[in-house]
This record gives sequence, structure tokens and C-alpha cells, in this order.
Amino acid sequence: MQAFNYNIIPSRMLVVLVVVILVFGLISPNAVLASSAVTYNVVSLGAKGDGKSDSTEAFVSAWAKACGSANPATIYVPIGSFYLSKVVFSGEDCKNQAITIRIAGTLVAPSDGNAANWLLFQHVNGVTISGGVLDGQGTALWACKSSGKGCPRGATTLEFSNSNNININGLTSLNSQMFHIVVNGCENVKMQGVKVSASGNSPNTDGIHVQLSSGVTILNSKIGTGDDCVSIGPGTTNLWIENVGCGPGHGISIGSLGKDSQEAGVQNVTVKTATFSGTQNGVRIKSWGRPSTGFARNVLFQHIVMENVQNPIVIDQNYCPDNEGCPGQASGIKVSDVTYQDIHGTSATEVAVKFNCSPKYPCTGIQLDDVKLTFNNRPAQASCFHAAGTASGLVQPTSCF
Ligand SMILES: *[C@@H]1O[C@H](CO)[C@@H](O)[C@H](O)[C@H]1NC(C)=O
Repeated sequence: MQAFNYNIIPSRMLVVLVVVILVFGLISPNAVLASSAVTYNVVSLGAKGDGKSDSTEAFVSAWAKACGSANPATIYVPIGSFYLSKVVFSGEDCKNQAITIRIAGTLVAPSDGNAANWLLFQHVNGVTISGGVLDGQGTALWACKSSGKGCPRGATTLEFSNSNNININGLTSLNSQMFHIVVNGCENVKMQGVKVSASGNSPNTDGIHVQLSSGVTILNSKIGTGDDCVSIGPGTTNLWIENVGCGPGHGISIGSLGKDSQEAGVQNVTVKTATFSGTQNGVRIKSWGRPSTGFARNVLFQHIVMENVQNPIVIDQNYCPDNEGCPGQASGIKVSDVTYQDIHGTSATEVAVKFNCSPKYPCTGIQLDDVKLTFNNRPAQASCFHAAGTASGLVQPTSCF
């Protein structure tokens, strides 16, 4: 008897459950539908993956539909090559805080370089981009710039501006006209498995640029480009970069800081487990040689391999391109508490460690711990101006504090 009851109760409950679902569904089918995530396929909305038809309207309408509902929504871009003119994805009238843009294909930019941004997300909250290739079509513009003719400035490929809770997974950015990915005024941005690829001599094609943002994480990414792999601008705090390959490119750079006289500082930056191959710099802090209110502090560079890098470890506080607007002045940027730990490999120049700090605000709290860099199979050299700190473990070249 007991065993019989045991069996019958769950199946009765199942029947009740099914009846409830059916009745609820009949009374209010929309409510049942709306409770599950909706997918908008851009092709169903008129996009054409032929590489030349303008699919902008279909993407704009997919965004409007996704924003119209408070329930999670996916915008799906199937395989194909979709040409898009400049698109602004605005979150200002967006009810949705869980929009995923899942891209199987390639998005293709206009090559004229006339817009400052190509794909711009602003004031959005809770957006994920998953997969996909963004083709910035920058090669013609780079050629124009190198010919010295008057050329348009070119577009940033992808920018998130004043946005929160952003995920970028498995995205590839090719041949951007200017910066590939910009994070500006954002909180809680996670990028994983991002690939950036552009020619080593393409101008101003920074891989990922972060500024005025907090809680940005960049993981498991590979960046080869003509400018900084990652550039870290004023007002960046709590930035975490881990397992990143860089090259070709200008390295991972905090700066340029101090371009403006009033500037927010950079604080709590970690760069962990990175490889630099044939790059101009490895880990760099760079500021203009003129007065400013900014700073860079609490920075950790850890577990880093340098392969034939021109300036593996560098702080340069005398940046003054074309000697304009700064001669005879000293940088106001205060650099402090920067740790270099477990950094090994080869330098392409004799001086592998360069601390060229501000005479007005010398660098303080620089720590070298287990650093070994060679040039032509011999210990490289270090040079210090206005830098104070400590060395521990094996440090080669011998520190110059
Ligand atoms: C530094 O940033 C990391 C994230 O990169 C964060 O987890 C940590 O709490 C921050 N530390 C401080 C003291 O704010």
C-alpha cells in the first residue's frame, strides 16, 4: 500500500502541472511566449548576406524589436557577409537588459572612412556580442594616410560608450580604420576570446582601448595590429588583462596620459600571463611631458614573456610628439607602486628596462622581482631617470635605482 502511494503521487502532480500549463496557455498564449527568450534573425527582417546590399535597416529594426521587450532577446546574424553603414545601438529607450547579438557571419564596414564610429553602442545595459567577424575595410585608408595625401580620419570599428554589463565573446576584428574596440565610460565589461588582426604598419589601429571605465576584464585574447595591442587611457580603474598574446603591435600601454591638464587617474591595473612577440614595446607607461592632474598607481605586470621586443619594460614621461606644446616642461602625472614580476625573454635593443620619469614627480615604489631580459644572448641594460624602487629575486639587467 505504501509503495503504491509513492508511485501515484508524482504522476498525479504531473497531470496537474500539464493541465495548468495548457489552461494558462489557452487563456494567455502571449504571456507564455513572452516568458521565453525571443530570437530575431536579421535575414527575416530583410538583411542580405551578399557582401554588398546595405543591411543597416534590418539591424536597426532587430535592435528596436529586441529593445521593445523586457524579456531576454537574441539578434541572430547567420553565415554570410553583411554590409552595414554606420549603426548606433542606443539604449536610451531600451526596456531590455539582456540582449545577445549572436553572429555567425561577417559584418562589413563602408571603406570611405568618413564616420568616426562604425558600430556604436551607447547607454546600453546588459548586451552580449557572441562570435562574428567585423571587417573594418581599413586597408585603402591606411594606404591613403601613408601616401601623405589628405585623408579622412577613419572609423573606430566597435565602441561601447556609457554602458554597463557588457560581454564580448569570441569576436574577431579585422583591419579597422582606426581603433578596433573602444570601451569608454563603462562599468563591468568582460571580453573573452577576442581576436584583433591588422597589419603591423597600419596607423592608429589600437586593438582595445579602455578609458573612463571600471571593472573591465580582457581574457584569452590575441591581438596583432599597427598600434597598441591594449591602450589604457585616463580614468581607467580595476582593469584585469590575463592570457593575452600581442604582436605585431606597440605593446600594452598605460597612456598616453597627461594630454589634458585636468585628467582622471589610472588605478589598479593587472596584466597577467602575456606574451609579446616582435613588438615595439612590452609593458609601457607613457605620459606627455607637461603639467596634468593625473596619475598611474597600483599596477601589476606579472608572468610575462618577451620575444624580441624593442622596449620590453618602459616608463616614458617625456612624450612630446613633434616637440609641440611641451618643450621645457615636466610631466604632472604621478607614477607610483608599479610591480614587474616574473618577466623573462629577449630584448631587440640593448636597453631593455627604461624608467624615464618626470623630474617634477619622480616615479616611486617601482618593484622589480624576478626579471630576466637578454639582448643578443647577453644581459641587457637598464636606465633610470628620476625613478625610485626596489629589486628582489634575480633581476637582470641589474636595476638602476
Ligand atoms: C582591483 O581590480 C580587481 C579587478 O580587476 C578587483 O577584483 C579588485 O577588487 C580591485 N582592488 C581594489 C583594491 O579595488
